[in-house]
Amino acid sequence: MATSPAPTIATPLRLPCGAVLPNRLCKSAMTEGVGDAWHRATPRHETLYRRWREGGVGLSITGNVMIDRTVLERPGNVAIDPTDPRTTDAAARARLARWARAGTGEGAHLWMQVSHAGRQSPRYVTARTVGPSAVGLELMGNYARPRALDEPAIRDFISRFGHAAAIARDCGFTGVQVHAAHGYLVSAFLSPVTNRRDDGWGGTLQNRARFLIEAVRATRAAVGADFPVSVKLNSDDFRKGGFSHADCLEVVRLLGAESVDLLEISGGTYEQPRLLGHEGIAESAMPVRKSTRAREAYFIEYADAIRRVATVPLLLTGGFRSRQAMDAALAEGACDAVGLGRPLVTEPDLPLRLLDGRSRAAHAHERDLVFARRGWRSPTSRWLPMRVANVLGAQGWYYQQILRLADGRDPDPALGLAPAIVAYLAEELRGAWRRRRAWSRPAPA
Ligand SMILES: Cc1cc2nc3c(=O)[nH]c(=O)nc-3n(C[C@H](O)[C@H](O)[C@H](O)COP(=O)(O)O)c2cc1C
Repeated sequence: MATSPAPTIATPLRLPCGAVLPNRLCKSAMTEGVGDAWHRATPRHETLYRRWREGGVGLSITGNVMIDRTVLERPGNVAIDPTDPRTTDAAARARLARWARAGTGEGAHLWMQVSHAGRQSPRYVTARTVGPSAVGLELMGNYARPRALDEPAIRDFISRFGHAAAIARDCGFTGVQVHAAHGYLVSAFLSPVTNRRDDGWGGTLQNRARFLIEAVRATRAAVGADFPVSVKLNSDDFRKGGFSHADCLEVVRLLGAESVDLLEISGGTYEQPRLLGHEGIAESAMPVRKSTRAREAYFIEYADAIRRVATVPLLLTGGFRSRQAMDAALAEGACDAVGLGRPLVTEPDLPLRLLDGRSRAAHAHERDLVFARRGWRSPTSRWLPMRVANVLGAQGWYYQQILRLADGRDPDPALGLAPAIVAYLAEELRGAWRRRRAWSRPAPA
């Protein structure tokens, strides 16, 4: 009997809904920060996603598009908020449609990541964050204590996942992803640290997962059976008492009964930014498994266990840099697709070069970042401000490179970490100010 050859990054992937990804390389969600003051898509989104599509990825997932324009992950987010018609009217949809056109074509997919920031919305965006419970994020005073959502607000936000997904489909996006990772609202419901409710939305894991399950159902009901619906989930929050790997396995089992096409595996939150391979607040940290394989793909050991209980295709994201590790993960069956974030910021055409053999790996620019080189990334460093500066600096550095790509320029590997932090913070504050001024003004076409 002939056995089918092991998949490689070049092998197409057929999803349960019938859609086909032309290869196994996916650009994972990265917040772009180039929305306008009314949280609508701009020509910069088009330039950015055209560049990634032309660079050879089979699937691009947008940065988080927010369902609540008052509680954002950052001021430059795109929002689809039914309470503000400026984010959903014909002009807003025309902008989304242009973005979708630029990021699709020749079989390549562009999926919209749909999200609510929950308690992880910085003070310069809002002093009114929300969460399952009033448990604040203690990160250098930058996050307000959230208001615990009541039942009607929970139901409203669940329906907004479906609302945004329907608009994404109408505008030409070829799939959607529910963001249930990294400590944002859906993820906060999953964690016993941030979800202290004693009603039907908290307590048992089944109850904590209810928000996610209902958001997935609302999404599927809105887009129909033949449209890709994905979920991004933490393999573990890596926080004492938080959403654990055992919880994750149980949620994966629950998701098996829903109609999900691709489950993306990540890990960590703002407190424990393991999604980027960084250490977080030492006092509440849980250790990460570290094998030779996991040195490149942060969550591969977790994916092995998830695979044993999952009935849906898996996308594994975090740390992948070499074709060898990507093909090995696919051939071993740890995952069905490989997610790439930072490498596609510094090398947007990396997929093409990996696929045709011109490159064997990404250049690891993050290792060259200034603070990291001075050893401040050390796991033994307990000085939180330096850890925060390191993560902020690295984020700021990638944000600046994304802005360059969005303006049609090439990335600048020589950009220093300190100038990147300054430019990033200035851009955020400028964005927050522009957004406040636009609040009461009609949006131009
Ligand atoms: C600049 C930047 C922005 C990000 N924004 C998002 C986001 O909006 N949504 C999300 O789910 N993950 C986001 N992430 C996490 C990435 O999707 C990915 O999980 C992470 O970068 C690890 O993959 P990598 O090692 O290939 O970079 C972001 C990461 C970076 C570097």
